[in-house]
Amino acid sequence: MSKPDLLMTVPMIPHATKQIEALFNVHKLWEAADKDALLSKVGQQIKAVANHSKVDAAMMAKMPNLKIVAGFGVGYDNVDAKYASQQGIIVTNTPNVLNEEVADTALGLLLMTVRELPQAERWLRAGHWTAKGDYPLTATTLRDRTVGIVGLGRIGQAIAQRVAAFGVPVVYHSRRPVAGVSYKHYPDLLGMARAVDTLIVITPGGAATANLINAAVLEALGPRGVLINVARGSVVDEPALIKALQDRTIQAAGLDVYAREPSVPQELLALPNVVALPHVASASVHTRNAMGQLVVDNLKAFLADQPPLTPVPETPFKGW
Ligand code: NAP
Ligand code: 8YV
Repeated sequence: MSKPDLLMTVPMIPHATKQIEALFNVHKLWEAADKDALLSKVGQQIKAVANHSKVDAAMMAKMPNLKIVAGFGVGYDNVDAKYASQQGIIVTNTPNVLNEEVADTALGLLLMTVRELPQAERWLRAGHWTAKGDYPLTATTLRDRTVGIVGLGRIGQAIAQRVAAFGVPVVYHSRRPVAGVSYKHYPDLLGMARAVDTLIVITPGGAATANLINAAVLEALGPRGVLINVARGSVVDEPALIKALQDRTIQAAGLDVYAREPSVPQELLALPNVVALPHVASASVHTRNAMGQLVVDNLKAFLADQPPLTPVPETPFKGW
């Protein structure tokens, strides 16, 4: 029996690609010189998409028999899930398997930013320790801080556990309070920014959170303020952040995500009070393989006429 047709939008990790190629006839979008021509040619046959990139309404409209968009990543702001739900297409993501890795990275970024660890390492490597003496004492420490987590979901809660274990008070903002947690909830983000000196942002991206961290929030955070963003670049007003760091409206920022990845504004990189990572929060072989396996397992469920493991809330399973 011939294998069903699947569109892979960008290269995926070998662990997932090998299994997907064994199950499907894979069309590799990134290899096509003319992507529209490929979609016009094979769009009718495509039943599944394995995705790590953008899938919008126009693209899905070219695949009228599409049943599942299996995404690699917990965030799915790159997929038009509303359009998918209208067309009866199931969108899946990869929740939970990356919670601990992303939370570990958030804490790493927090420590790097507050204790200036990358700057201190650069001091040693540049020979300044022997030539000029000790790296200067850091003005910032975790010891006198309160962390406000913006988004206390699966990953936010894993971050909160770690911050609390460091002996640092935790509060949070989300639209609804989370049942069963003891951290103080702020329904108002500005109110929380005024009350704390450190924000860790871990909400979804997309329209509902666009520029949530704006000039007013940074102003409220104040001159001791530290902003850590491991959510999406779109959640922070990037020009407002650059200005707030330049004029010391806030003290420092630790960033894993940016508005126009992989491009990062030169003004950000030029700032001494910024630690910048290239979107690596989940990027270990262990965790990326677990994410890849969940993509494969969602696709296998489709082939076996079984419910998907992790459909997103906008596309609840009602049958294939
Ligand atoms: P989740 O469990 O759905 O949690 C999302 C949290 O954000 C919830 O507490 C939610 O609470 C809150 N939230 C949503 N919209 C909000 C809004 N408009 N204002 C305030 N709070 C809002 O998601 P998760 O699994 O923790 O993942 C969170 C996000 O992290 C992903 O969507 C992705 O964008 C990002 N992420 C980044 C990396 C990376 O590599 N840097 C890795 C993994 C994930 P309410 O709905 O009550 O507001
Ligand atoms: C990945 C992420 O970096 O899961 C997410 O939402 O942002 C990260 O785990 C992403 O899947 C793209 O590589």
